Amino acid sequence: MLIHTDYSIKNLNSFHIDVKAKYFIEINEENELTQLLHTDEYALNKRLVLGEGSNILFTEKFDGLIIKLNTKGISVIEESETEAVVESAAGEKWDNFVKFCVENKLYGAENLSGIPGTVGAAPVQNIGAYGTELKDIFHSLEGYFTDGMRKGYFEPEDCEFDYRASVFKDRFKNAFIITKVRFRLSKLHSLHLNYRDLKEIYKDQPAESILLADVRESILGIRSNKLPDPYEFGNAGSFFKNPEISNRKFKELHEKYPDIVHFKVDSTTVKVPAAWLIEKCGLKGYRLGQTATHSKQPLVIINLGSAKGKEIAEFADFIQAKVKKKFQIDLIPEVNII
Ligand code: EPU
Repeated sequence: MLIHTDYSIKNLNSFHIDVKAKYFIEINEENELTQLLHTDEYALNKRLVLGEGSNILFTEKFDGLIIKLNTKGISVIEESETEAVVESAAGEKWDNFVKFCVENKLYGAENLSGIPGTVGAAPVQNIGAYGTELKDIFHSLEGYFTDGMRKGYFEPEDCEFDYRASVFKDRFKNAFIITKVRFRLSKLHSLHLNYRDLKEIYKDQPAESILLADVRESILGIRSNKLPDPYEFGNAGSFFKNPEISNRKFKELHEKYPDIVHFKVDSTTVKVPAAWLIEKCGLKGYRLGQTATHSKQPLVIINLGSAKGKEIAEFADFIQAKVKKKFQIDLIPEVNII
């Protein structure tokens, strides 16, 4: 078992921040986790489990042990006439799992095509896009509690999934290592095309003639049009969550800005797009030093090349302050700032 010291993680975070971890280990087989438990590097240090580092901003050297899960394997473990349960190792790329489902004509994951990151990281923030969230197809997961590497098993009701949130981002933050995730997919033709851009693409096509593989291609196309390629400009997707505000607050805003878009959350709350708020502050495509908001989607903060993590965090603070001043709304980061 090889534990690296003072290891550069520049290529292991999608913001491409050039920082080091005091200790770093790659886990290729699940049983290596139990061996790791008995090392001083594990016992005496804080730890961080890293997927592809696509939702994290390092603002300084990580003074502890980074554990990167590289475990692989995707397979159907259960099936009926109408459904299949697919199990994936945590270290698989998320999009490999989606591709597997689409190739096997399993419906449910296609709207989540192209999301960067690993399968193991996906439940942590209940990833979502184009009208689907991970929780909609989630079956169960397993892994280890970091104190003593006790095995743990979570069903949907144990995960407390919410908008970009779960028990693994909250109560069990850094306390549980996800090693396997299972999903329930449908074998029946069932697509979710309510999201505006998808509706537009398929408006003239009868629903039953739309192919699963085409929906995946459409999603990949929408994403590449709107979102920056992390290989070109380091980024972590949406930097902030879309804020949820009261109906009363929304009414005030709507009177002032009749063009504001909103989505109903429940009878008392609505969600407004953070991208809209940022744009209205004049910060779409705004550049500050080595950081900027993306010119097509200002909710995405990009590294123009050599930004330090602190610089990006300060830019995020600057955006939060502008939005707060103009709208009295707090933007909450979606990205994990370390
Ligand atoms: N908008 C603007 N200006 C812009 C872009 C968007 O005003 O330049 C407004 C529009 O009103 C638009 C609304 O923002 O209708 C929503 O924009 P978009 O559909 O691009 O999605 P988003 O709310 O900004 C969320 C997720 C994305 C996900 C997309 C698509 C969050 C924090 N982000 O973004 O997820 O891909 O919806 O479903 O919920 C991520 O989490 O990293 C991520 C990229």
